[in-house]
Amino acid sequence: MLQLALELIDLKKSYGALEAVKGVTLSIKPGEIFGLLGPNGAGKTSIISIITTLEKPSAGQVKVFGYDVEKDPMQTKRLLGVVGQEVVNSGFFDVFEILEFMSGYYGILKNKERIDYIMNKLGLYEHRQKKVKQLSGGMKRRLMVAKALVHKPKLLLLDEPTAGVDINLREDLWAYVRELQQEGMSILLTTHYLMEAEELCHQVGIIDRGQLKFVGPTNQIIEQFSAKKIMIKLRKDRDSITHKNFLKKKDGFFEFQIPSQESMGGLFRDLSLTLEDVEDIKTEQGSLEEAFKQIVSK
Ligand SMILES: Nc1ncnc2c1ncn2[C@@H]1O[C@H](COP(=O)(O)OP(=O)(O)OP(=O)(O)O)[C@@H](O)[C@H]1O
Ligand SMILES: [Mg+2]
Repeated sequence: MLQLALELIDLKKSYGALEAVKGVTLSIKPGEIFGLLGPNGAGKTSIISIITTLEKPSAGQVKVFGYDVEKDPMQTKRLLGVVGQEVVNSGFFDVFEILEFMSGYYGILKNKERIDYIMNKLGLYEHRQKKVKQLSGGMKRRLMVAKALVHKPKLLLLDEPTAGVDINLREDLWAYVRELQQEGMSILLTTHYLMEAEELCHQVGIIDRGQLKFVGPTNQIIEQFSAKKIMIKLRKDRDSITHKNFLKKKDGFFEFQIPSQESMGGLFRDLSLTLEDVEDIKTEQGSLEEAFKQIVSK
């Protein structure tokens, strides 16, 4: 049987009267990049805090590679790497020292080779002798990612690793995440950059006010909850077209919006058009962002 990298089983978390997580069930397969998406306050960080045992669940269960995080925290901590949402300052140590301490924390005493490798990968090598307070915000984020990787975790949790990170660095960071995935790491990430999530994540979970609204393959959610646009320019131009999916005419193109799973053929049939009638045609696929808005506003 396939050993899942992560399993959340009817997970609940309340802070006093506030139900922040309302029975979330989902799983991540080994080697998968999973995007946990949702608006501010949806419960994403709460879920991550439970996985890392920083917080106790009010009900339900979390398993990391089959180990229960409450019963076997030592095992699960070893398997996990975590990049938290908040940037933490540890004042007087330099980058290399921090990564060395972090290795020590996992019981790895001689880790220079791995640390150098990670620093190189994350563009930190040239900054290795800087104290944390001498790093820029983006460098601090990269250091947080480096800290999460010293012990070669099998499941990496990234809570908005690219918040406040510039576009180039964001692309580098995501490229590195993809590389880690290709090396076999499983990854759970949260992000508010939905275009990036769309490119990166095999599966997504959409959570809103503690409730999981959708979980499944990224292309499936786009197909199910967004629309595609079809723009048609006719050989013999007309002033108008009457059709339920017609949006507008722009620059000589008639613009239609049809559900992503519907075909262009239906539209052609409805309009009694053949390819002979068409001068030019353009299509635009729906996006994860569109699907997200559909789900979260409902
Ligand atoms: N330690 C805490 N004590 C009380 N309430 C909390 C605590 N942590 C989170 N909450 C509340 O739980 C809810 C979910 O918060 P959480 O941080 O999990 O959201 P999030 O999805 O990570 O949001 P964001 O996108 O803003 O990071 C919010 O209403 C928040 O105010
Ligand atoms: Mg959060």
